[in-house]
Amino acid sequence: MIDILLGLQWGDEGKGKIVDVLAPDYQVVARFQGGPNAGHTLEFNGNKHVLHQIPSGIFRPDCLNIIGNGVVLDPIIFRKEIDALAKYNLELRKNLVISKKTAVIIPTHRLLDAAYEKAKGDAKIGSTLKGIGPAYSDKVARQGLRLGDILSPNFKKKYQDLVAKHTQILDFYNFEYDLTEAEKDFFSAIEFIKEFDLRDTEYIVNDSLKSGQRILAEGAQGSLLDIDFGSYPFVTSSNTTAAGVCSGLGVAPNTIGEVFGIFKAYCTRVGSGPFPTELKDDLGEKIRQEGREFGATTGRPRRTGWLDLPALKYSIMLNGVTQLIMMKADVLNFLDEVKICTHYRLPDGTITEQMPFDLTDTDVEPIYKSFKGWECSLEGMRTFDQIPAELADYVSYLEDVLEVPISFISTGPDREALILREALAV
Ligand code: GDP
Ligand code: IMO
Ligand code: MG
Repeated sequence: MIDILLGLQWGDEGKGKIVDVLAPDYQVVARFQGGPNAGHTLEFNGNKHVLHQIPSGIFRPDCLNIIGNGVVLDPIIFRKEIDALAKYNLELRKNLVISKKTAVIIPTHRLLDAAYEKAKGDAKIGSTLKGIGPAYSDKVARQGLRLGDILSPNFKKKYQDLVAKHTQILDFYNFEYDLTEAEKDFFSAIEFIKEFDLRDTEYIVNDSLKSGQRILAEGAQGSLLDIDFGSYPFVTSSNTTAAGVCSGLGVAPNTIGEVFGIFKAYCTRVGSGPFPTELKDDLGEKIRQEGREFGATTGRPRRTGWLDLPALKYSIMLNGVTQLIMMKADVLNFLDEVKICTHYRLPDGTITEQMPFDLTDTDVEPIYKSFKGWECSLEGMRTFDQIPAELADYVSYLEDVLEVPISFISTGPDREALILREALAV
């Protein structure tokens, strides 16, 4: 079976940590969408490492890591990621396979991202500027480059044809650029990536399934950034939800097993866009500091706020979540009161627990339920029977209203900082 682990909020829920924790139970870990806009942090044995395009099973020697066809890959960033992994002595050329159908991000994609954002002014998306939107746009417009193309003798020509299209747009936007250095880096990174195993990974994935191996699909971003169901247009350009796994890896829906939905005990968002429960006050700042809420890819401060049930229920529904994982409970240790938004009040006074069509233009007022804070450290706790009564109340309320069990509570960045509900642990 293929299990899925994905974020239920606006990204940065802690996916990297949990994939790394679960990976020893899987033979394959595969990324199915997104690209270098992702920043997945892993902490173990005193190391802290951020992965962008490489799956988070890479530190587990018995795990094959696949970058699937649904991903958009930047060869320059890929090379940097491989270099940064050198000190760990991993068998990267054996344990990492990349789909030939993966879309390639070229330097002009990044320039286009910047040009579009600049032109939007105050309405900018707050993109990570990694070229994600332009690269996916070219894929859908049927004019993009795929990784397998780099093995073709006319790759350079294909590349130049695409660049010519891009420079026309850049000129239209009066966007100044100098491609010389970036192109040098790009072509050298292309030669570098040829040393890796480039394959039709849909065969590897399906053969693994046939032989009874377990695969974990690792989501990037979060469900509320999904191109179809997120807070459009403040979203990313891929299907971040479970549906993306089938198209992003080439597997059939009936091969999907567990869907692990991961969420923070509160909420964060980085970049622009609606965030109904945002705390714009000192408390929001305190949570940002306690949670070290600064982007793993861009370093930008993350916006913070209370847990949002209408949004969480929506994500659970879209993904068919079978187990929940609650992250960063420790960040709320300092609070004597913790709130959860249970409903939205719409401008016409209606109370709802559904997501409105357009969260951007609808001013929703969150309705909160208050909980007593646990006000103690969670350090060293390993099982649910050790948690303070107030946290147990918070958890059982969520399980009741979400109708999905919470299998793990994470209490710190390290691999070991995890509270397990024994019965459900994989
Ligand atoms: P991802 O993109 O979903 O993999 O998440 P990020 O790596 O972008 O952001 C999660 C951040 O929270 C990282 O800095 C992690 O090291 C950290 N983190 C993960 N789990 C916990 C936790 O339970 N408690 C605390 N305090 N930090 C955590
Ligand atoms: P991980 O996998 C949080 C946000 C950006 C921006 C919007 C569009 O680490 O959870 P893009 O670069 O895709 O054009 O940006 O999406 N965004 C993320 N926010 N975590 C991420 O990834 C994100 N990837 C993109 O901030 O608002
Ligand atoms: Mg992240």
